Amino acid sequence: MSTTEQPRLAVLISGRGSNLQAFIDACASGALPAQISLVISNNPDVAGLQRAERAGIPTTCINHRNYDSREAFDAALVNELHAHDVDLVILAGFMRILTPVLIEPYLGRLLNIHPSLLPKYPGLNTHQRALDAGDNEAGATVHFVTPELDGGPPIVQARVPVQPGDSADSLAARVAEQEHIIYPLAARWFVEGRLLLSGHRATLDDTPLPPTGVQYSPE
Ligand code: GRF
Repeated sequence: MSTTEQPRLAVLISGRGSNLQAFIDACASGALPAQISLVISNNPDVAGLQRAERAGIPTTCINHRNYDSREAFDAALVNELHAHDVDLVILAGFMRILTPVLIEPYLGRLLNIHPSLLPKYPGLNTHQRALDAGDNEAGATVHFVTPELDGGPPIVQARVPVQPGDSADSLAARVAEQEHIIYPLAARWFVEGRLLLSGHRATLDDTPLPPTGVQYSPE
């Protein structure tokens, strides 16, 4: 990272961009000492792109439908990330499965947030699955991205109660509030040089994190 300017983030989105908004707000307030250099969406005309444009952040749409393979799509992403000299890549509701073409060059500098208490419920429909299982709590996990889908080392996890009468949407909204706190927090640890991917573990301040990451609780 350059010493004269703030670390450069790229945020990759596919839709609504509420986590992107949390990053925009955290950078603006100084809670996250970094700049968002680029927002990439694989879908055109999504709300997240408008959020970025309103904040004056450069955006680009790289539409996966225009590529013959996942690898070719990922190579286009890597080109764009390199061109913007990105230090940290934030997957924020980016609904594409990545290949080693992107993961390898950014290994240890590539974060995702998943709306479950990993290792529970990798993949899709996490909130409905938690409700169907009768779970009494749900949550979200920030983790390093490795080639294993939703399987990279967890960094930080926030838990919320499942309430009587919850739908997948009401539970998702409760979880999203926590996502917007823990994701910029994990990025802050990274840009401060405190968070590393070390083999198959995440370390914070040189201490290996537990298999479910730091358990976040409000001060
Ligand atoms: C969030 O629930 C996140 O956990 C998941 O995708 C959703 C993105 O929402 N990976 P948004 O686009 O950030 O509002």
